[in-house]
Amino acid sequence: MSAIILGIESSCDDTSAAVIKDGYLLSNVVSSQAVHEAYGGVVPELASRAHQQNIVPVVHEALKRAGVTKEELSAVAFTRGPGLMGSLLVGVSFAKGFARSLNIPMIDVNHLTGHVLAHFIKAEGEEEERQPVYPFLCLLVSGGNSQIILVKAYNDMEILGQTIDDAAGEAIDKCSKVMGLGYPGGPIIDKLARQGNPKAFTFSKPHIPGLDYSFSGLKTSFLYSLRDWLKEDPDFIEHHKVDLAASLEATVVDILMDKLRKAAKEYKINEIAVAGGVSANNGLRNAFREHAEKYGWNIFIPKFSYTTDNAAMIAITGYFKYLDKDFCSIDLPAYSRVTL
Ligand code: KG4
Repeated sequence: MSAIILGIESSCDDTSAAVIKDGYLLSNVVSSQAVHEAYGGVVPELASRAHQQNIVPVVHEALKRAGVTKEELSAVAFTRGPGLMGSLLVGVSFAKGFARSLNIPMIDVNHLTGHVLAHFIKAEGEEEERQPVYPFLCLLVSGGNSQIILVKAYNDMEILGQTIDDAAGEAIDKCSKVMGLGYPGGPIIDKLARQGNPKAFTFSKPHIPGLDYSFSGLKTSFLYSLRDWLKEDPDFIEHHKVDLAASLEATVVDILMDKLRKAAKEYKINEIAVAGGVSANNGLRNAFREHAEKYGWNIFIPKFSYTTDNAAMIAITGYFKYLDKDFCSIDLPAYSRVTL
């Protein structure tokens, strides 16, 4: 019998629902919340309220696009955490109520696991993508995380290194804010960087042992350098916008790739994947391609639609757990902070 999983994601500011049948994606609906743009960052209470408005129509649309009725569902998978508590509670409560009313199992999914397993989503009617072979390394880079993960199985992951302060996306967003660009800064910096010179400016890089990352020093270096340059030329940002963006992006990419290379060498693994919001970055994607050529890596870069928050990755994780009958109970709470 087929396994049809409804996935629900509401950890931050995207309300998303997706349907996966036997590992193949039938639909993936994402409703993003523009309400936060005016505030330069996600406002948790507004995010929670928007999820409440969006959740029913988004689920309805996902089922409709998949051509599946709710009675045909085998299980409901949902993001349990990490994320904003008020946002998570909307998806978690909806998923539990929906699953209970249909008398089908509910499956809790760790959002970070979902990002990593997005590489296993297959799309019907499309040429089959290559999939990583266990064990592989995954660089998970988002607004809240920068981690190098050793993925031994779908349910067995080990964090080899992670940021000791800011995440890569957070650092890019903050530097972009300092430059007076819009929110979120990542895609804006990416676009500007394509026209700039990545070697125009030099910013400090961290020297920390092992496989951990640090991005707060880069943020400070960017801020202080900019402050000095602005003293000499009040229009410095306007005059050098593209070069600033390109140099910032290149520094972040260098920091990320240096440690990833080190991990690949130490663990003798050349199956290397990237995931999370920052994996949409063109500079990072190019660096992966260059490393594949130079070091013989088998690289796995997600489709753009799977880089930011989406329920397809929750549904595929739910599918794997469903096959193992790894269900959860209705009294399971959401969690805002959790590791893999
Ligand atoms: O994974 P994600 O959607 O949300 C979580 O943090 O969970 O990641 C969001 C982060 C933000 O910092 C955003 O600026 C960054 O991903 N981002 C990018 C790009 N697109 C999104 N950073 C660099 N280049 C991009 N094209």
